[in-house]
Amino acid sequence: MKRVIAIDGPSGAGKSTVSREVAKSLGFLYLDTGALYRAVAYHFYKNFKNVDDFSLLPEEEIERELIKIKIHYENGRVYLSGEDISDLIRDPEVGAVTSKLSAKKVIRDFLLPLQRSFAEKMDIVAEGRDMTTVVFPDAWKKFYLDASVDVRARRRYEQLIKSGKKITFEEALKDVIERDRRDSSRENAPLVISKEAFYIDTSELTIQEVISLVLKKVAEDD
Ligand code: DC
Repeated sequence: MKRVIAIDGPSGAGKSTVSREVAKSLGFLYLDTGALYRAVAYHFYKNFKNVDDFSLLPEEEIERELIKIKIHYENGRVYLSGEDISDLIRDPEVGAVTSKLSAKKVIRDFLLPLQRSFAEKMDIVAEGRDMTTVVFPDAWKKFYLDASVDVRARRRYEQLIKSGKKITFEEALKDVIERDRRDSSRENAPLVISKEAFYIDTSELTIQEVISLVLKKVAEDD
């Protein structure tokens, strides 16, 4: 295994931007594992139009469907059977389906070898919910990025408004709380703060400050 910088945390803590920039600055590959979960969820979202609640989809049915899924990830872009779906997976509806399907063991098992395969070839910055605990327990460096619920809801609200979505701050807040609950309470690979991870509360920091802090920490214990 090459060097892995594993970064976990809830949505809206700034993981994506920080991980991308840290990877760029060190010349590592940036691995957005949320994008892989979103790609799988997108397949179900597109092909199972009659399903209202994806939490209720039986694991056996999901397993049969997974055989058809071909995911390719390169340069931060994600492809499903050759189609670049990187922008489509950012739709909040796809995000909601992803949050439900990512609790399924069959889906986590399906993505586990794919995630690990990246670290066989090159040094990576891997970002997600279970990087420091399940996927890369022996990672070279571990971080946990956090922020208060209010700050994360504000960031989510502003991001969605900017991309043209109609949403109120209260809806964004409700959404963040609900997603936190699902990510942290699920049976399979829940989001937990690893004791080995360097904890950063980003609530009062700029993205640049967080990037600098991560880079400093990586360099100092080397
Ligand atoms: O980081 P994100 O918002 O793109 O993640 C989308 C969903 O996927 C989110 O509900 C949590 C889930 N996820 C996960 O369960 N495990 C990961 N390693 C990454 C994401």
